[in-house]
Amino acid sequence: MKNVAVIGTGYVGLVTGVVLSEIGHTVTCIDNDEQKVNTLKTGQSPIYEPGLDELMAKNIDVNRLYFTTNHREAFEKANIVFIAVGTPQSDNGAADLTYIQQAAKDIAQNIVNDTIVIMKSTVPVGTNDLIETVIKENLVSNVKVDVVSNPEFLREGHAIYDIFHGDRIVIGAEVAEAGDIVEQLFSALKLPIVRTNRRSAEMIKYASNAFLATKISYINEIANLCEKMEVNVLDVADGMGLDHRIGRAFLNPGLGYGGSCFPKDTEAIAYLGRKHGFPLTIVESAIKANFHQRELFLHKVLDYFNGDVEGKIIGMLGLAFKPNTDDLREAPSLYLIEELEKHGAVVKAYDPVVKHLAQCMDSVEGVLDRADAVLLVTEWDEFKEMKIENSRVFDGRYILKK
Ligand code: UDX
Repeated sequence: MKNVAVIGTGYVGLVTGVVLSEIGHTVTCIDNDEQKVNTLKTGQSPIYEPGLDELMAKNIDVNRLYFTTNHREAFEKANIVFIAVGTPQSDNGAADLTYIQQAAKDIAQNIVNDTIVIMKSTVPVGTNDLIETVIKENLVSNVKVDVVSNPEFLREGHAIYDIFHGDRIVIGAEVAEAGDIVEQLFSALKLPIVRTNRRSAEMIKYASNAFLATKISYINEIANLCEKMEVNVLDVADGMGLDHRIGRAFLNPGLGYGGSCFPKDTEAIAYLGRKHGFPLTIVESAIKANFHQRELFLHKVLDYFNGDVEGKIIGMLGLAFKPNTDDLREAPSLYLIEELEKHGAVVKAYDPVVKHLAQCMDSVEGVLDRADAVLLVTEWDEFKEMKIENSRVFDGRYILKK
């Protein structure tokens, strides 16, 4: 069993740390935010993720899972350090590497053992090379460092399940022995392993996310055409999905993709394409189609009221960017609320988990009461069987029984 440190307690870092402790390793998660670390120490997850709190509490109890703000404290025992900090989108679409650079410097200045640094964050091709250089240039102890790329594919809301049942573990290493140690670290998960070099591993992550995002935009465009031609797009998706070369997953039409990954990762790979003189025209189109999907939905609602929603009460069911999460990043709901309110509508919303927006009501009834129209925006299970007594229902997720 290994002694591991994880920098960053966002979705990826926290779930990775907790699962590594669950499979027997000793893990210390590091975050700069003292308040967050204090909450984590009590076994409470700051994010809504089914199953996470239980695993945290259990592994804290058996002394396999620790939290700290102090890098040195975590690195004194560890010889494996994960980087799992954010790579937000910068103005030109490129990934912003500020937090990654900072993590590299923190590692260089605080490690005291020979260390394998594992990059979990989604980073542009070449970043692992760069980070290895930054660490080596800033090292204060005389130790050996190898950087290994190990991109993460977990989905919010299914994060624990996804780590235990992932399709593959990608390991990109320049030094075979370092790659072997990362392989051992995850051996208890018994998942297929893809071994490659660092740059290819980095590209596998971006190319996978961009492909899935494109698949969603593709089915959304087909759905729009189906609607015009009285074709049932869900039957079309089922019929297509049975072809094993296509597969049914990610063929659910709706309001387009949101969240913390697809929007930023598609922009980041598109930026790489432009930068290297090979624009990714298909990905660029998928990005445009994704935004168009929200606009189209908004216009359906506006058109219904002949463009005048001033004073109309619009009920909104679902706010999170997808079910089983409280995440609002790039959520279509935020765009719709902003635009509808700009047009003078009063939006009343209900989400089973998101409760803090000014538009939030306590119950579905509160949303349906006196609503001039109802928009289904997130496909939470509890909405699926609901009978909505309102003739003006706009089902943005194709889930309601007619
Ligand atoms: C995604 C990837 O799936 C994961 O591998 C990666 O590590 C992070 O990004 P996540 O953003 O958590 O995960 O959610 P996911 O379930 O993939 O959904 C992404 C978006 O696509 C959501 O907005 C969802 O509503 C939308 N979507 C997904 C569709 O519109 N239709 C589909 O068929 C599937």
